[in-house]
Amino acid sequence: MDRTNKVKSIAVLTGGGDAPGLNAVIRAVVRTGLGYGLKVWGVKNGFGGMVENQIIEMTGESVAGILPRGGTMLGTTNRDNPFRYLTVQNGEKVYSDMSGQALENLRQHDIDALIVIGGDGSLKIGAEFYQLGLPVVAVPKTIDNDIPGTERTFGFDTAVGVATDALDRLHTTAESHHRVMVLEVMGRYAGWIALHAGIAGGADCILIPEIPFSIDSVIDKIKERQQRGRLFSLIVMAEGAYPQGGEMSVGRIVEGSHEKIRLGGAGEKLTREIESLIGVESRCTVLGHVQRGGTPTAFDRVLSTRYGVAAVECLLAGAFGNMVALQKNEIIRVPIADIAGITHNVSLDDELLMAGRAIGISFGD
Ligand code: F6P
Repeated sequence: MDRTNKVKSIAVLTGGGDAPGLNAVIRAVVRTGLGYGLKVWGVKNGFGGMVENQIIEMTGESVAGILPRGGTMLGTTNRDNPFRYLTVQNGEKVYSDMSGQALENLRQHDIDALIVIGGDGSLKIGAEFYQLGLPVVAVPKTIDNDIPGTERTFGFDTAVGVATDALDRLHTTAESHHRVMVLEVMGRYAGWIALHAGIAGGADCILIPEIPFSIDSVIDKIKERQQRGRLFSLIVMAEGAYPQGGEMSVGRIVEGSHEKIRLGGAGEKLTREIESLIGVESRCTVLGHVQRGGTPTAFDRVLSTRYGVAAVECLLAGAFGNMVALQKNEIIRVPIADIAGITHNVSLDDELLMAGRAIGISFGD
């Protein structure tokens, strides 16, 4: 494939778990590409669709009305990796390298370059294709906000909004029943959703994977509130949070996925422990995929649109192998190779974390 900047025909794909704003990026890519006179293709169902030749031509019509819609009109999967592609042969599961077939499918459509909208798994695959000579540009997607090189991934703001709304609702029922309410939120190995929602939703305790918690410290916080006449407490817990000396709570294993482990169950364990230790009636709410579904916030729609436009312009500038990113409210370019495979965690001196401590929130340490 030609790695000069004579890009005439581009494809876009969405990989990994969906995030609110995916459709807004696709729309921006298609509209910008068409505006520059390019031919624009959509690869359906992530990298699996690239192997299976599920490639459709995109027009202004195909992206009409999708801006506020959650999910992805192209479909996605967090299982398929063309470099280790799962097929069933004679009843046996076989993994083979189908990257050549995937590239051939792009060639057949005269596609010069690819925009990958994805999280860490998709970025890694995108980086491998780039190394094979395919001009690639990436857009950082995930509700977890755990991709390095960017201050924000799109989808995060919407997920934080959903979690904050849940905390507001839990607040009133917790107060009425004098209960401890634990809200388990997503985020994988990073505590960004818990941190931001916890601050926005007035949690008393925020537990994140970056700070293993002490159960005594959590109990102290609940008791301290009780002594002040506050007979209820709100705890927001990242799915990856775990007790000191303990382990993350694994919900299930998804074979064939880039990251097989799915976290889950931490909130329920903590809830039972609180009840058994101090006898306060407690309940756990697991927000789950509600955080990923539905309409993106205005912030995510704007960010997604900026990313989509910037990704096309990055390809036209011949700046291949980059991810578009947000730094100090400007869209910049970051080499994918510098960030693929790295998780962006909450640092212990994070400004928001310190603000939380300053206003008396317990982080369980
Ligand atoms: O990475 C996004 C995310 O929603 C994580 O927060 C969560 O751990 C995981 O994906 C859930 O994956 P699945 O959709 O496969 O259950």
